[in-house]
Amino acid sequence: MDSAKLELNGETYELPVIVGSENEVGIDISKFRASSGAVTFDPGYGNTGSCQSSITFINGEKGILRYRGYPIEQLATKSDFIETSYLIIYGELPNQQQYDDFKHRLTYHTLIHEDMKRLFENYPKGAHPMAVMSSMATSLSAFYPESDDPEVIELNIIRLIAKFKTLAAFAYKKAIGQPYIYPRNDLDYAADFLHMMFAVPSEPYKVSPLLERALNLLLILHIDHEQNCSASTVRMVGSSQANLFASIGAGVCALWGPLHGGANQAVLEMLEMIRADGGDYQKYMDMAKDKSSGFRLMGFGHRVYKNFDPRAEILKSTVAEVLDEMGKTDPLLDIARNLEKIALEDEYFVQRNLYPNVDFYSGILYRAMGIPVDMFTVMFALGRLPGWIAQWKEMRDDPKMRINRPRQIYTGANARDYVARDDR
Ligand code: SDX
Repeated sequence: MDSAKLELNGETYELPVIVGSENEVGIDISKFRASSGAVTFDPGYGNTGSCQSSITFINGEKGILRYRGYPIEQLATKSDFIETSYLIIYGELPNQQQYDDFKHRLTYHTLIHEDMKRLFENYPKGAHPMAVMSSMATSLSAFYPESDDPEVIELNIIRLIAKFKTLAAFAYKKAIGQPYIYPRNDLDYAADFLHMMFAVPSEPYKVSPLLERALNLLLILHIDHEQNCSASTVRMVGSSQANLFASIGAGVCALWGPLHGGANQAVLEMLEMIRADGGDYQKYMDMAKDKSSGFRLMGFGHRVYKNFDPRAEILKSTVAEVLDEMGKTDPLLDIARNLEKIALEDEYFVQRNLYPNVDFYSGILYRAMGIPVDMFTVMFALGRLPGWIAQWKEMRDDPKMRINRPRQIYTGANARDYVARDDR
C-alpha cells in the first residue's frame, strides 16, 4: 500500500501513504492543499499524525506502551528512572560505563544558581507549584544562555534534568515555609528528591527504600507518552527554534490542565469530595453521565487507550503493596476501587471505553508518600521531563523540521467596509 485516493469535486487525488514499524498507516496530506486547495479538518488533532517518531509506541486498543521498543511492564520492574531516562533520550539502554557517566553528570549538576532562590522569594504564599515550575524551567535560560552548539545543548539537557528536581523540592519548601534542603551527591535521584522534600536541618532524615522504589516506579511510568498534549506543546514551541528551557516551560503549562496532568490532583480532590459526601458513589457516577452537570469522573478515559491504561494496571497493584508495607490504609483507595468497579460495569462508561488512566491511582501513591496534593502534577512533570526532552531533541535533530503552523477553516464575517464610529 503506497498511496491513497481521495475524490473531491469530481477530481481524484492520489496521496502518498507512510507505514510505521508497527504497521500504523498514515496518509500524507502535506501537499494536498497545493493540488486541491482544500485542507483536512481534525479539531483536537484526534486523528492526525504530527510527526514520525521512534521514541514511544502506544497501542490503545491492546493497552500496549513501549519506550524505544521496551514494554513498560519490564522497565517498571527492572529499570530505574536514570536508566530509562537515558533510554528515552538517547534511544538505547546504557551499558555500565554510559550509565555511570550519565548518573555522575546528573548528580553534579543538581545545584541551582543561588540567584534563582530570589525568584522563589517573590511568589505569594499559596502560589501553585506548577506556576513556579513553569517559570523556573524557562528562567534557567537566563542562567544558561541558549546555543546551537550540540555540546551546549547536551549540557543543558543534563542541567535541566538535574536541576528540575531541586527546583521542585525548593518550590515545596518555599510553599510550607521551611528552609531549602540542598541536593546531596551521595544519594540517587529519587532518594535525593525525597530527602530535599522531607528532610529538615534540625534532624537527620533517612530515605525509605520502599518510598525510593515507589518513586522510581512512578517516575518511569510517567516518562513519555508519545504526542500527548504537553509533548506536542514542547514540539510546537521548539519548532520555532525556541530554546530547550522555554520549550519545557511551555510543556509544564500544558500539563497543568485538569484534563491532562492536572488530573492526578483532580482525582484526589474528587475522592475527598465523595468521602466527605458519605461515599455516595452512585451520585457521582450519575453526575459523570449527566452532561449538564459539568462533572467528569477524573482519572477516567483516555484519547488513545480504549481498553486499559497499562500504567494504571501497574499502579493499582503497587498502591496496595506500598500501603501494606507501610502499614497504612487509605479510605480513598477503597473509594477508588469501588468507583472503578461500578464504572467498569456501567453501560455509559463501557460504551465510551472509559477506563482508569495513569492519574486514577498515582495520586493515592503520592499521598501515601507524604506528597501534598498540589505537588502531584509537579511529580508528573518530574517524570515526564525526559520524555519532553526526547521529543524536543528528536524534532530539533530532524533535518526536515519545519515550524509547526496548522491551518484553519474560517467561519467569520465575509469582507465588509469600515464604518465611521458616528455612523454605527
Ligand atoms: C493524561 O494523551 C495522553 O497520553 C495523556 C496522558 C499522558 O501520559 O500524557 O495519558 C496523561 O492526561 C491522562 C488523562 C487525564 N485526564 C483525566 O482523567 C480527565 C478526565 N478524562 C477526560 O476528560 C477525557 O477522558 C480525556 C480528556 C482524557 C479524553 O478526552 P477525549 O478523548 O477528548 O474524549 P471526549 O472528551 O471526546 O469524551 C468522549 C465521550 C464524551 O461523551 P459523548 O459526547 O460521547 O456522549 O466520553 C465522555 C465524554 O463526555 N467522557 C467522560 C469522561 N471522559 C470522557 N464522561 C465522564 N467522565 C469522564 N472522565
